[in-house]
Amino acid sequence: MALDLEVWEDNDALYSRAQEIFSTQIKNGATTFGLATGGTMIPLYEKLRSSALDFSHCNSVNLDEYVGVPQGHPASYHTFMQQHLFEAKPFKATYIPNGVAEDVHAEALKYENVLKSLTVDMQLLGVGVNGHIGFNEPGTSFQSETDVVELTASTRSANARFFDSLDEVPKQAITMGIASIMRAKCILLIAVGEEKRTAIEALLKGDVTEDIPVTRLCNHPNVIVLTDLQINND
Ligand code: GLP
Repeated sequence: MALDLEVWEDNDALYSRAQEIFSTQIKNGATTFGLATGGTMIPLYEKLRSSALDFSHCNSVNLDEYVGVPQGHPASYHTFMQQHLFEAKPFKATYIPNGVAEDVHAEALKYENVLKSLTVDMQLLGVGVNGHIGFNEPGTSFQSETDVVELTASTRSANARFFDSLDEVPKQAITMGIASIMRAKCILLIAVGEEKRTAIEALLKGDVTEDIPVTRLCNHPNVIVLTDLQINND
């Protein structure tokens, strides 16, 4: 398995390391970054914002967006990216699925075509408590491409903290598929906190199963995992 595991006891050091990986990518000529949202990414984007890194010649493609949440809504991934990164660090072009498109299925197809026209040099990934990547919930086919997907009750409740109430959390999202994610040349996965232990242990165990989407990364040639979890990988 071409997976490089780095365990960092200190979170600040972990995020500095993530920033360094972005910096090395840029130095090596990367021009397209797959980006992610979620609480895990906030300290990383804080580091990128206060760094000297310049993304003005780069493209970004985000993993996902909620269906039915307008771009200006405080919990949209569009707003998240503006606030946490793009306002301070403009990219040449940024792509995030439009969750309020009239035809969200057509939007998903269009997004997949945009993705296919780009080569993602590095895809940033978080992981859901149930092992989801992007919004690809357990049971998603490894062949999946960008699509409209249903969110599980556990994902909706994990993400309720970003909304006023659980009822407000959308039931659907547009997400890059697992096959779409796997096309990236390199993947940087960040998992911080005990609630991610089951997912990360499954990944490191190496039993690849559609029941735990993150395990698909075992089949990718270039993955770096940054975590604060002390893993017993016997
Ligand atoms: C959401 C996102 C995922 C993210 C996950 C974990 O479901 N769609 O891309 O990895 O949340 O989020 P957090 O970092 O807040 O735990």
